Amino acid sequence: MRTIAVVNRKGGSGKTTTAVSVAAALAERGLSTLLIDLDPQASASAWLAEPSDHHGPFEAFIGTRDLESNVEKTGIPGLQVVPASPWLVEAERTLKGQLGVGVMHALERLGQNWAFVIIDCPPALSYLSVGALMAAREVIIPVEAHSIALPGVAAIVGEMRRLQSTLNPALWDPLIVACRVNRTIHARRVIEQLDRVHGELLARTTIRESIRFAEAAEARMPITSYAPDSGACLDYRLLAEELVEREYLHAEHPRRVPRWRHIFGRSGRADPLERRAM
Ligand SMILES: Nc1ncnc2c1ncn2[C@@H]1O[C@H](COP(=O)(O)OP(=O)(O)OP(=O)(O)O)[C@@H](O)[C@H]1O
Ligand SMILES: [Mg+2]
Repeated sequence: MRTIAVVNRKGGSGKTTTAVSVAAALAERGLSTLLIDLDPQASASAWLAEPSDHHGPFEAFIGTRDLESNVEKTGIPGLQVVPASPWLVEAERTLKGQLGVGVMHALERLGQNWAFVIIDCPPALSYLSVGALMAAREVIIPVEAHSIALPGVAAIVGEMRRLQSTLNPALWDPLIVACRVNRTIHARRVIEQLDRVHGELLARTTIRESIRFAEAAEARMPITSYAPDSGACLDYRLLAEELVEREYLHAEHPRRVPRWRHIFGRSGRADPLERRAM
């Protein structure tokens, strides 16, 4: 079972969209997947789960119940969800570090019933997020392809490095995924910059900007059901494939040519990266 936390301190960077879409794409490949919504904003729950006013996984986090008892079906075969609850804000305020440790234990006690557990974290390295990061083996950092997002990437990568050297040495190097990539020169420069600074951590898959994601959330369907033939869906299918490959390719092998080069290459404009190489 591979446990992957989706984190970035910056709000609106594409965490929930990535967690929901990649979880659905993995389930579509026949890999049973559990999506855990750790964000009290409960955006992933609103997307996939039935509305409810219960306390969410709180009892699991204080150790009086198993997390399994919070697992719910979704309309997607092979995809299940643990919904969050706004109530976790209060729990975090009162329990502090105890909640973080509770999250870690609840995740560690989870039965090996799924191929993937994807955890959608809140936009902060709060106790909830750190609890998830202590139990996870892998981290995805979605980054909006905009210059304003870049300083935050260095900070979160630094935090992951600190976790690797302290609380969780088993944590793999994080995978940075450029999201909301449009065909502007600005987006291209941001990806070049990510490649220059964090090259070995950057996923070869990039996620294009598409209104389909907002539409899918509104329709309460993952992109794989709402727009299965769209480019937006293709991107997350490719990310799912990259995650699957990563198990085998982790560490030893050189990265393939990043896919964003092909995307921008299609515009017919000369590629400054190629020019630089010449
Ligand atoms: N690839 C994309 N193309 C277009 N819109 C996107 C894309 N990814 C995310 N969005 C939109 O950006 C907004 C924020 O995305 P999302 O909720 O996934 O971010 P988040 O990091 O989970 O936010 P928060 O920090 O608040 O939890 C949403 O309205 C979503 O529809
Ligand atoms: Mg979110």
